[in-house]
Amino acid sequence: MCSIIGYSGNEVAAPIIVKGLKRMEYRGYDSVGVATESNNQIELKKGIGKVNEVNSKIQLDTLPGKTGIGHTRWATHGKVTEFNAHPHPSNSGKIAIVHNGIIENFEELKKQLENEGYNFKSETDSEIIANLLQKNYESTKNVKETILKTVSEIKGDYAFVAMFENGQLAAARFHEPLIVGIGQENVFLSSDVLGFIEYTDNVIYMKNRNIIILDKKDFQILDFNGKNTEYEITKVSKEFGDVYKGDYAHFTLKEIYEQPDVILKSGEKTIGDIEKAVDYIKNAKNIYITGSGTSYNSALIAKQILSKYVKIKSEPIISSELQFSPEIIERDSVLIAISQSGESADVLEAVRIAKKLNCKIISIVNLLTSSLVRKSDITLGMNCGPEIGVAATKSFTAQLTILYKIVQKLSNNITIDFEKFAESILKIIENPVKIQKIAKELKNVSDIYILGRGINYPIAIESALKLKELTYIHAEGIPGGELKHGPLALMDSNVFVIIINPNDSTYADTLTSAREIKARGAKIIGVSDIESDLYDYWIEIPKIKEILYPISEIIPIQLLSYYSALEKDTDPDYPRNLAKSVTVK
Ligand code: F6R
Repeated sequence: MCSIIGYSGNEVAAPIIVKGLKRMEYRGYDSVGVATESNNQIELKKGIGKVNEVNSKIQLDTLPGKTGIGHTRWATHGKVTEFNAHPHPSNSGKIAIVHNGIIENFEELKKQLENEGYNFKSETDSEIIANLLQKNYESTKNVKETILKTVSEIKGDYAFVAMFENGQLAAARFHEPLIVGIGQENVFLSSDVLGFIEYTDNVIYMKNRNIIILDKKDFQILDFNGKNTEYEITKVSKEFGDVYKGDYAHFTLKEIYEQPDVILKSGEKTIGDIEKAVDYIKNAKNIYITGSGTSYNSALIAKQILSKYVKIKSEPIISSELQFSPEIIERDSVLIAISQSGESADVLEAVRIAKKLNCKIISIVNLLTSSLVRKSDITLGMNCGPEIGVAATKSFTAQLTILYKIVQKLSNNITIDFEKFAESILKIIENPVKIQKIAKELKNVSDIYILGRGINYPIAIESALKLKELTYIHAEGIPGGELKHGPLALMDSNVFVIIINPNDSTYADTLTSAREIKARGAKIIGVSDIESDLYDYWIEIPKIKEILYPISEIIPIQLLSYYSALEKDTDPDYPRNLAKSVTVK
């Protein structure tokens, strides 16, 4: 998963491209590169590392010319090396490409091209596109014909931008995002509006199987058969440009601190749709809830609160698993798809399967411009602003807040005072000193177990995910009652256990588990509104309604993960090997 960008206009391209890449770094960040055209010659620079690191080493932003392409890579085919970084030039050096996605038939195409004398410098599937374009351009001498022929030959999911030595740009989209930004004197092609939002808010969301041919700032959009297609120019909200850290050391910290506000704002823009969603849920034959990673953990909580508070049964499904047992889904049901990005390939695949079975799709999404929104019957917007830190924090709280709002509307007797709740969350984050101290203790720990029961079990899993991502410490969420069925064997004085233990119906049993763990010498961090001698460290959470505990439990763990990452000197915003939205299966 990567980000691609193309620029054509009347300003020097490279600095604009580098800035755009920096903003899209959340999509992938192991290497970066830029190519520009000037005086009918393509120049190219690329390197390993993050945008700023590579730029300060090799000055990507000094490349000349007013047309260019750029890329940040998250390795899928081939290791993290300079050769594997994009842009990839064709053998003649007269064409360069950037690509996001996967070319499934690349081995077959590579063999064919090698037999015809082409050679390949990288291990990527992407380099195929560059040489295939060269071959087709040599025979057609026409950019449009070249792109059409090339897309008819490659198989897979992709968005790519190609730059020709005459300064023409062309791009194609098939199942990966590609957005056109239209400025006064320039045009952008990008994986995300963040790539160009500073310059224009006029955009075209390219449809699948569409290509675009640019000549300076004039463009033509065609389908894969070469026919002109209709397109719509829409305006995106400028708030998407609000991606600066401000006074915070990291985006992750900023996003954790935004959560009281998120509780107030989530779902605000979608109240009308909530009514409609509630209607679908009330009348659904079956309800399935799907997501990946953190969004799946929200689905687990959704199941519990729907059954406990409004007696509605639902089944959470890990998105990536559905393709292996699609028979789980009964025709004509309702699928609730939860996704911050709205671009996770696994979630989109789950939605595709459900739609084939005539299910209605309700999505809970942050990026309202995403593919998932276009595939949904109803969308509830998380409205939490751009989440740049790779680990999901405020989007989890936004998802849960929307689910609470749904439950509130379905029930006759649940009323949630979101303002009061937001105030109590503020109290948790106002004074992180205690959490910072505990983070120091975790610096050399190799295993952390997190225990929770009932509605708190998904929080144990989500806590483990946050700790893994941010600190690289092995962490595992365990349902409290399962301790004695196996994990107790692991408890000794080298281990830390976090006990999620609010004063709800699970309290007494979880305290018993804490006692059993303590007896084996493990250190205990209690996350609770009640203090106990059993805890070596106590993280106090507010006394609130049972339904609201999950958010108040996860926020201190997000902070603990963040501060432990600082202790371990890992980058909390960009954990190794991960990308913000995983658009490959
Ligand atoms: C965890 C995390 C990932 C995402 C997952 C789904 O901190 O960020 O597990 O939750 O990749 O992403 P979305 O919600 O964009 O579909």
